[in-house]
Amino acid sequence: MTDPQNGGPEVVAEGGLVAELQHMTAEERAEHDAEVAEVVAPDREIDVEVGQTLLEVDNVTMRFGGLVALDQISFDIRRGEILGLIGPNGAGKTTCFNAMTGVYRPTSGEVRLEGNALGKTSRHGITQLGIARTFQNIRLFSEMTALENVVVGTDARHKTSLLGALLRLPRHHREEKAAVEKAMALLEFVGIADRAADRAKNLPYGYQRRLEIARALATEPKLLCLDEPAAGFNPAEKEDLMGLIRTIRDDGYTVLLIEHDMKLVMGVTDRIVVLEFGKKIAEGVPAEIRENPAVIAAYLGVPDDDVA
Ligand SMILES: Nc1ncnc2c1ncn2[C@@H]1O[C@H](COP(=O)(O)OP(=O)(O)OP(=O)(O)O)[C@@H](O)[C@H]1O
Ligand SMILES: [Mg+2]
Repeated sequence: MTDPQNGGPEVVAEGGLVAELQHMTAEERAEHDAEVAEVVAPDREIDVEVGQTLLEVDNVTMRFGGLVALDQISFDIRRGEILGLIGPNGAGKTTCFNAMTGVYRPTSGEVRLEGNALGKTSRHGITQLGIARTFQNIRLFSEMTALENVVVGTDARHKTSLLGALLRLPRHHREEKAAVEKAMALLEFVGIADRAADRAKNLPYGYQRRLEIARALATEPKLLCLDEPAAGFNPAEKEDLMGLIRTIRDDGYTVLLIEHDMKLVMGVTDRIVVLEFGKKIAEGVPAEIRENPAVIAAYLGVPDDDVA
């Protein structure tokens, strides 16, 4: 994984890529960026057309003892859109992600990806089927480098078995080299390639958030779920991140975004689903949501700068 001949971290540590980028002409840079985009763009076969339903949350209820965290929730995510999932603290947003990604199994109801029920599919199985996520509280391999964290993400799509890796079969070598190249391209795509060789724990907070996104993209998801990716950011950093999320969508991904800041959500999403106390209280395009009395009431009492 750290073999310099594979273009691994050692090469980067010497500043190779960064220095190279700085010395490129505009034309070379454009060509380089196009190559990066090609590596990053999703090449998975997706059964549904753009604009059609990719994922269905169908009447999902999630109980924890006496607490109903999700109460008969239904909504669809269409391929190619950015869907916002919003609601006050404790509304059930993260629980909804957990129910979609196999962390919890819904008490009742069903989640379907491309028409197929996820049922008892494991978390790893769901990643392989094409749902990737980031966490509200960053979860990275803190002792591993940024690049290694992303290479781990590419493992979800590898064909070599563990035995193949142990025997170091040629296919394993090829896949490893491709994984490092792809991981490097993803780091560039999210804007943190200059720190590829640094351990995750030594990265600035904003870089860690972007690294999580790169790692999720490495699994080549059909659906990317982001749980408050801009939490703890200042307004300028938030705007930057929303720009990245738009770029991700423009590259052909479908995004489900949990975000607290209403203004940001309005600016970046195509449609919005609103939860409150585990119930869906509204769904629509941002302009409808902004005018919706139930949504306004739900957000009363939150700090002014959180309300659009
Ligand atoms: N594992 C669990 N066991 C018991 N209760 C839980 C569990 N997970 C979530 N809850 C409860 O479910 C409700 C919804 O929580 P959830 O974390 O989904 O809210 P959220 O909308 O993501 O809120 P926030 O904006 O604060 O992140 C809360 O009342 C929470 O305490
Ligand atoms: Mg949450």
